[in-house]
Amino acid sequence: MNSLPTTQATLETKRLLLRPLCDADTASLSKIANDWDIAKFLSSMPHPFTLEVAKSFIESSNSAYLDNENIVFAITKRASKKLIGIIELDLNIKDNHATASYWIGKDYWGKGYTTEALEELVRFGFKELNLHRIASHHFHNNPASGKVMQKVGLKLEGKRREHFRKDGEYLDILDYGILAREWSKNIL
Ligand SMILES: CC(C)(COP(=O)(O)OP(=O)(O)OC[C@H]1O[C@@H](n2cnc3c(N)ncnc32)[C@H](O)[C@@H]1OP(=O)(O)O)[C@@H](O)C(=O)NCCC(=O)NCCS
Repeated sequence: MNSLPTTQATLETKRLLLRPLCDADTASLSKIANDWDIAKFLSSMPHPFTLEVAKSFIESSNSAYLDNENIVFAITKRASKKLIGIIELDLNIKDNHATASYWIGKDYWGKGYTTEALEELVRFGFKELNLHRIASHHFHNNPASGKVMQKVGLKLEGKRREHFRKDGEYLDILDYGILAREWSKNIL
């Protein structure tokens, strides 16, 4: 892949619609994202996640797409249209790979939504963007996220010991990845 399609796709799963963020999402994004129980597991999520932060997150998401750097999807429920989380692909065009990251509002944890969203994001990355590899990672104290990666077929590739410092604590990072040929083998 040399560049992203001009218009960002909207992706559908059984229960979810993954779509580009828009200005109208500002208030609902700030409301669900403003939660330390989410931010504490993410390396770069601002906290508090104010309305101003939400506004600039939406703006920078749109410009990062145009710059072929990052694709951010609002995770919304198909039935209610409610925004319940965010899933992203951080692109490296030169090496034709991407890194996935995600979070879901606390009210929606444990219902399989992130697994459903990541499955579709991985399909999109391989089938529509023709990526060679998709990676993801999580802090050692967040096994639920590792479980999501495993359920989608990503393999544990290693551990970066005490690689990240969050609130004064050194955290191990667990690295996962999947190659396009591994994904195709499981799909066919
Ligand atoms: C991690 C997170 C994305 C999971 O989202 P979710 O929609 O609840 O995930 P799913 O329901 O699709 O799957 C979660 C899986 O983890 C499992 N799980 C939950 N807590 C767990 C724990 N402490 N240890 C191991 N597995 C756990 C669940 O049982 C489920 O597996 P199962 O379907 O086999 O039962 C969500 O909790 C979240 O947004 N957390 C805060 C932000 C974050 O951590 N983002 C990821 C950063 S790497």
